[in-house]
Amino acid sequence: MTITDTGSSALVLDAAAADLLFHTARTANTFSDEPVSDEQVRAIYDLVKWAPTSMNAQPLRIVLVRSSEARERLVPHLSPGNQTKTQSAPLVAIVAADVDFHENLPQVFPHLPNARDFFTEPVAREQTARFNAGLQIGYLILGIRAVGLAAGPMTGLDTAAVDKEFFADQPLRTLAVINIGRPGENPWFGRSPRLDYEQVVSVL
Ligand SMILES: Cc1cc2nc3c(=O)[nH]c(=O)nc-3n(C[C@H](O)[C@H](O)[C@H](O)COP(=O)(O)O)c2cc1C
Repeated sequence: MTITDTGSSALVLDAAAADLLFHTARTANTFSDEPVSDEQVRAIYDLVKWAPTSMNAQPLRIVLVRSSEARERLVPHLSPGNQTKTQSAPLVAIVAADVDFHENLPQVFPHLPNARDFFTEPVAREQTARFNAGLQIGYLILGIRAVGLAAGPMTGLDTAAVDKEFFADQPLRTLAVINIGRPGENPWFGRSPRLDYEQVVSVL
C-alpha cells in the first residue's frame, strides 16, 4: 500500500522505501518465532552508524539480550503490559546512553584534539549523552525497518533497576528496550492519528 500525503511529490526517496520506513511501517506488539540473525543486526548498525550526532559523539550503546537467562533478568523490570511483548520477541535490545562517551572523542572527532575536555562537567555530559543516544534510537528504529523487520520500542520500564541489574560497573544509562523481529499474530494496535503540519510547524 502506498500512502500519498500532500507534498509527497517532493520526496526523492522512492515510494516503496517511504512505505517501508514510514507510511506502512508500524510498531509491533507481537512477534513470530523467526530468529533475527547477527548478520541482520550488523547490517542495521552499519547503516544507522552514519546518521549524525553532536560532535559525532555516538553515545548509544546496544546490548542484545540473546540468552534466556538474560531475558529472565530483564523482564521483571518492564511494566506489566510490556512483559509479554519482550517474552515473545525473537530479539530484544537494551538501548543505553554511555555517559563517558567523551573518552571516544579523540577517535571519532580527531580534528578537534581537545574535544574531550569540553565534557568534564558530568551533568551536562549526561544530558548530551541522553539527547544524542535518543536521536540514535530513532535512527535505529528506522534501520530495523530498513532490513524488513519490525521494532517495538518501549520506555515503560524501571530504567534504574535495569542499570543496576546489567550495568552496575559501567557508565551506561538505560533509555529503552526495543523488541525486534517479524510481526506475529495480530501485531498492530489501531493506527493513532498524527498531528497536522499546521500544529507542528510554524514560520517566523
Ligand atoms: C520511545 C518509545 C517508547 C515507547 N514505549 C512503549 C511502551 O512502553 N509500551 C508500548 O506498548 N508501546 C510503547 N511505544 C509504542 C508507541 O506507542 C507507538 O510507537 C506509537 O503509538 C506509534 O505506533 P505505530 O507505529 O503503530 O503507528 C513506544 C514507542 C516509542 C518510540
